[in-house]
Amino acid sequence: MTVTPAPSITLSNGVQMPQLGLGTWPMNDTETAAAVASAIGLGYRHIDTAEKYGNETGVGEGVRQSGASRSDLFITTKFCRQWHSADGVRQACEASLKRLGMDYIDLFLMHWPNPEQDQYVETVGAMSRLIDAGLVRAIGVSNFKTTHLQRLFDADLVPHVNQIQLDPYHLRADIVAVHRAKGIATGAWSPLGRGSAMLSDPAITAAAEHHDRTPAQVVLRWQTQSGYVPIPKSSNPSRQTQNLDSFDFTLSEAEMTAMNALDRPDPGMLDSDVFGH
Ligand code: A2P
Repeated sequence: MTVTPAPSITLSNGVQMPQLGLGTWPMNDTETAAAVASAIGLGYRHIDTAEKYGNETGVGEGVRQSGASRSDLFITTKFCRQWHSADGVRQACEASLKRLGMDYIDLFLMHWPNPEQDQYVETVGAMSRLIDAGLVRAIGVSNFKTTHLQRLFDADLVPHVNQIQLDPYHLRADIVAVHRAKGIATGAWSPLGRGSAMLSDPAITAAAEHHDRTPAQVVLRWQTQSGYVPIPKSSNPSRQTQNLDSFDFTLSEAEMTAMNALDRPDPGMLDSDVFGH
């Protein structure tokens, strides 16, 4: 079965980004190659990986197995803290390209700000040179809080994307408001709350029943109706299908409001002022 590919959003530099992608953490190269080939066969056009996941080689392998042409795909990867410098980010990019077996990356992200290293401003500043060199099409950051973003703005830098943990239990409203004001696209990692109890929340199951959809489809529709770009991970072809097949119904304003009321403090959440790689 194939599903209609996800619609795209337009990044602030004009690049088109499919509004739903396949997440690949935590899969090894072999699992990733199979999941990526399956997903592309089903209609996925956007794949998200990272140096840290150790599966960029598997992404490249899955893309080749799928037979899809590179220009039809949108590939995101992310680099680690050891490359935080103007020269380092170019080396990181070339190393990712080699592992992927590709000659460009669609979206290249700084994985974590690592503020104790205090090199993220300089490094993001150097990333636009990768676009000039034709190695990447768009650049961004991940796990940036408003304070980190503000330091970029102070240096006249506005990333195209900030990919953060975001789901109906983690609304991240302060960060999203800054994105909207600055034209930054919001990527959502763990958009399904890692398949957690959130999927049994009554506000979500009620909407699922009403639309004859699964709770995961309702959460993903909440993500895309909010304008976010979710990257649900699934190695299971039927869940991959279900996740992509989530654009052809519309949650009502009341359903969106009920889901927007689910935000809750989460002391277990990774804090990018202290955690990073
Ligand atoms: P699986 O790979 O076996 O499908 P997230 O992207 O939020 O981190 O969630 C990923 C987790 O959610 C994985 O454990 C994945 O398991 C599971 N998952 C992915 N899609 C669905 C779905 N449609 N329904 C329920 N669980 C899902």
